Amino acid sequence: MPGDNPFLDPQRFERRIEPCIIVIFGANGDLTKRKLVPALYRLAYERRLPPGFAIVGVSRTKLSDDDFRGKMRESVQEFLENSPFDETLWQEFARGLYYESGDIGDAASFEVLGKRLDAIGTERGTGGNVLFYLSTQPSQYAPAAAGLGKAGLSKQDKGWRRLIIEKPFGHDQQSAKALEVALHQHFEEQQLYRIDHYLGKETVQNILAFRFGNPIFEPLWNRNYINHVQITAAESIGVEGRGAYYQEAGALRDMIQNHLLQVMATVTMEPSAVFESSAVRDERAKLLRSIRIWKPEEVMQNTVAGQYGPASIGGTSVPGFRQEANVSPTSMTDTFAAATFFVENWRWADVPFYIRTGKRMPKRVTDIAIRFNSVPHSLFKTITDGEQVETARPNVLVLRIQPEEGISLRFSSKQPGAGMTLRPVSMDFNYGSSFGVRTPAAYETLLLDAMLGDATLYTRQDMVEASWSVVQPILNEWSARKDDVFPNYDAGTWGPKTSDEMLARRGHTWRVP
Ligand code: BG6
Repeated sequence: MPGDNPFLDPQRFERRIEPCIIVIFGANGDLTKRKLVPALYRLAYERRLPPGFAIVGVSRTKLSDDDFRGKMRESVQEFLENSPFDETLWQEFARGLYYESGDIGDAASFEVLGKRLDAIGTERGTGGNVLFYLSTQPSQYAPAAAGLGKAGLSKQDKGWRRLIIEKPFGHDQQSAKALEVALHQHFEEQQLYRIDHYLGKETVQNILAFRFGNPIFEPLWNRNYINHVQITAAESIGVEGRGAYYQEAGALRDMIQNHLLQVMATVTMEPSAVFESSAVRDERAKLLRSIRIWKPEEVMQNTVAGQYGPASIGGTSVPGFRQEANVSPTSMTDTFAAATFFVENWRWADVPFYIRTGKRMPKRVTDIAIRFNSVPHSLFKTITDGEQVETARPNVLVLRIQPEEGISLRFSSKQPGAGMTLRPVSMDFNYGSSFGVRTPAAYETLLLDAMLGDATLYTRQDMVEASWSVVQPILNEWSARKDDVFPNYDAGTWGPKTSDEMLARRGHTWRVP
């Protein structure tokens, strides 16, 4: 009985949120308008916010509360997905929206903010509970934490104080450690919430439900039955006005160091004894620490960097990465990254995990394909892609993260008619048709969890550092590349040829998602 287990966090079941204020630094930015405020409005629509609640936007621009409300109204109308805009609800929601102009580098701004939070706390009945959200340039994280700390705003004497930061957590291994030291000067680890929005996706959370809520799959979930795993996160868009950021980041840092290694950990981690924040995070961290770290001389054989060049997609010309705004014409940034990883433990020894991600791929799709071993001895002929072959196609389980959300299992079936010929077919589960409800956006889930004080779906410093240990040697080797190798794939394709060659070295091919 869950109620008898002293280690279970009762809040996970009751989900009762205390009144609080969310302060968003970077209130004029893209994330605030596209994701954060629409997610909070949606939570209000579902009546999931506490009765005492307020949002305070902070940025350098001078705006009145009403100006900010007007801007956020436009954003919610534009970016709210699959939900109606309700005027009455908006009026109620907007009464809890405030704005304070301030400069993160200026101590006086934090003093002013502190006074404003006291006043709003009294007006809205939020007590002293405040969730700070840093939706700013990463270079502002340490100064913002210091500003808050020095003004006494991180002290938890009148209520809880929490700080959410967005990835990237450091630009490399060294700066990730430096950031940690800077944050910890003013906040305890328990106050820090490092967001990785992939962990908030329903379909990623469902991987744990699928694995640990269904005893039939877990016995197969190991090196004895699984041949290899492919994780694909393809985007059809380019850098969309984020050239300056992306040029510094690149695909490996932007997607693999955080989101995709977390997805891989979710697929491979051991079950925790209880579903409680530190127990689950301990298992994830343990897994991330078990990933083999490539030696410098092994990096090039096991990783691939790509950058898209100009192309025509469906009759429309698309610029290459080097022609995008705010990108250097000789940029060496990877817009495609692929890597082979191994997990060094008893469950996974010798099973390759192939990860690839890229911008300007043929379509937007994120999925995980688990390829089981082939039959040991083939009795039947199989028709596959119109051709007759000797061996049955191996079973593949595909966990579909987005845009389609579901799970499908490929297996062989007898082709109707005379003779015994097999054909691959699939069994499908689809979220939409099975549950008939809209899946909440990752930011809704994660904001709610932070208000609840539930960090299960947030990353922890040890995980961040373990991921950097995996990625840093790759970055080091890549930075020594010659500058004439890019671009090496056309926009609208599945990346450079070397990505296929990387799998071919172990006798595998990328599945077409
Ligand atoms: C972000 C990256 O973290 O994730 C972006 O910075 C990327 O470059 C995005 O486009 C992908 O997120 P999603 O949820 O659309 O798969």
